[in-house]
Amino acid sequence: MENKVLSILDTRTKTGYEMPLYNGTVRAMDLRQIKTGPDDFGVMTYDPAFLNTASCQSAITFIDGDKGILRYRGYPIEQLAEKCTFLEVAYLILFGELPNASQLAEWVDNITHHRMLHETTKKFLEGFRYDSHPMGMFISTVAALSTVYPESRHVHDPELRKLEISRLIGKVPTIAAYTYRHGLGYPYVYPNDELSYTENFLNMLWKMVEPKYRANPVLARALDILFILHADHEQNCSTNVMRAVGSSQADPFVATAAAAAALSGPLHGGANEEVLKMLDEIGSKDRVAAYVDRVKAGHGKLMGFGHRVYKNYDPRAQIIKWAADRVFEVTGRNPKLEIALELERIALEDEYFIKRKLYPNVDFYSGIIYQAVGFKPEMFTVLFAIPRTVGWLAQWQEMLEDPEQKIARPRQIYIGHGQRDVIPIEQRGMEVSPSTK
Ligand code: SDX
Repeated sequence: MENKVLSILDTRTKTGYEMPLYNGTVRAMDLRQIKTGPDDFGVMTYDPAFLNTASCQSAITFIDGDKGILRYRGYPIEQLAEKCTFLEVAYLILFGELPNASQLAEWVDNITHHRMLHETTKKFLEGFRYDSHPMGMFISTVAALSTVYPESRHVHDPELRKLEISRLIGKVPTIAAYTYRHGLGYPYVYPNDELSYTENFLNMLWKMVEPKYRANPVLARALDILFILHADHEQNCSTNVMRAVGSSQADPFVATAAAAAALSGPLHGGANEEVLKMLDEIGSKDRVAAYVDRVKAGHGKLMGFGHRVYKNYDPRAQIIKWAADRVFEVTGRNPKLEIALELERIALEDEYFIKRKLYPNVDFYSGIIYQAVGFKPEMFTVLFAIPRTVGWLAQWQEMLEDPEQKIARPRQIYIGHGQRDVIPIEQRGMEVSPSTK
C-alpha cells in the first residue's frame, strides 16, 4: 500500500507537520515532534481500551469485521474447518504454512509425546477444593508448569521455544481433563497415544472402567472443528495480555496462564458459559421477547452477542451452527437451541441491535454444542482456552521475533492531585477521606 502523508497544523504554534501514513496508521511516536516549546513532552495519543490503536504488525490472522471475514495465514476459516484437523491448523498458525503429510505426521508425534503431566503437577491439582471452577484450576496449573520447566525462561532460544510450545499444546487438554475429573472425584485417565488430539481429550474426560475408550467420531470431529474456530483471533483481549506479559520476557507458561485469566472474563471467553445461564434464565421460547425488552431497557446484555471487530455476523458462529446440526444427529437436539434461535431471530430484526450492529458471536452457539456433547457450562471456557493456547503462543513468538517490539509500557494522562505535603496523623481531620467512602 503506497504510503501517503497527513498534514497537521498545530494552531497553538501555527506550525505545520507532515505525518507519513504507515499502512493507514500514524506512528504515535511521530506525534511527539508536535510541541509548543523545547520543554513540551510532545503530543501523545489517548485511546482507552485501544479502540483505535494498532499495537503490533501481525501476519497470523486477518479479520474484516464489516464483511465477516476470518483467515488464518490467508486461508478462509470456512475452508480450514472443512478440510483440516486442529493440529494441522495449529501448525499453520505457528509456522505460517500448511504442513505436508510428513511434516504433519512429525508434528502430531511431537505433540502426542508431550501429553503427560509431571506427577507433581497432578498432586498440585489435587490440592484444589472439589468444587473449584475448572478455569481457576486450569490457569493455576498452567502457571505451575513454569516451575517444572525453569529452562523455559530462555525465551530467545528458538529450539527451547519450540519445545515449550509443544509441551503447552500437548498438555493443555490433559490439564483440562484433569480439572473435570477432579471436580467429579473421578480418578485421572492418562493420555492414550493411539488416539487423535480430540479423541484422546474425550478419552481423558470420559473413560471409566472400559478397557479402551472409543470416542464417537462425529463428536470428536465436531470438537476438532470447534478447536479450529477458536485457535486465534488477532489482537483480542487475552492475546493482548499474552503479548504484554511476554514482552517482559516472562516464560510462556506464566504468560499463557495470564492470557487464560483474561479469557475467563464474562465479556471475553467466559461469555459461552454466561450464554447458557442466560438461556436457562429465559427458560422458554415464549419468554424471549420479554428478556430482549429488559436488555434494551439497559438491564444486562445479550451474552454471546456483539463484538469489537465484527459488525456483521461472526463467521465462526455460522460454522458452529452447522456443526451443531451434526452433533444433534448423534446426541439429540439440545432444547436450548430453540430459545437461542428465537433470541437470534428477534434480535436481528430489532432496531436496538441493528443500530448497534450486534450479531451472534463465536460464544453464542458454542455452549449449546458443548452441553449437548456432555460438558458442564463451567468447562466451556476451558474448551476455549485449549485451542486458543495455539494462537497465544503464535502471537507470543511473533512478538519476540519482531525487532520493533520491546517491553509493553503504555503512558497515561495524569488527572490526580498536584503536589501536596504529608500532615502528621495526629493533625489530620476526623473527616472520612472520599476515597474510602
Ligand atoms: C469473544 O476480541 C475478540 O476477538 C474476542 C473473541 C475472540 O475470539 O477472542 O471473538 C471472543 O470474546 C467474543 C465476545 C464474547 N462476549 C460476549 O458475548 C459478551 C456480550 N458482548 C458485549 O459485552 C460486547 O458486545 C463486547 C464486549 C463483545 C464488545 O464490546 P465493545 O466493543 O466494547 O462494545 P460496547 O460495550 O461499547 O457496546 C456498544 C453498544 C453499547 O450500547 P450504547 O452504550 O451505545 O447504548 O452496544 C451495546 C452496548 O450497551 N452492546 C450490547 C451488547 N454488546 C454491546 N447490548 C446488549 N447486549 C450485548 N451483548
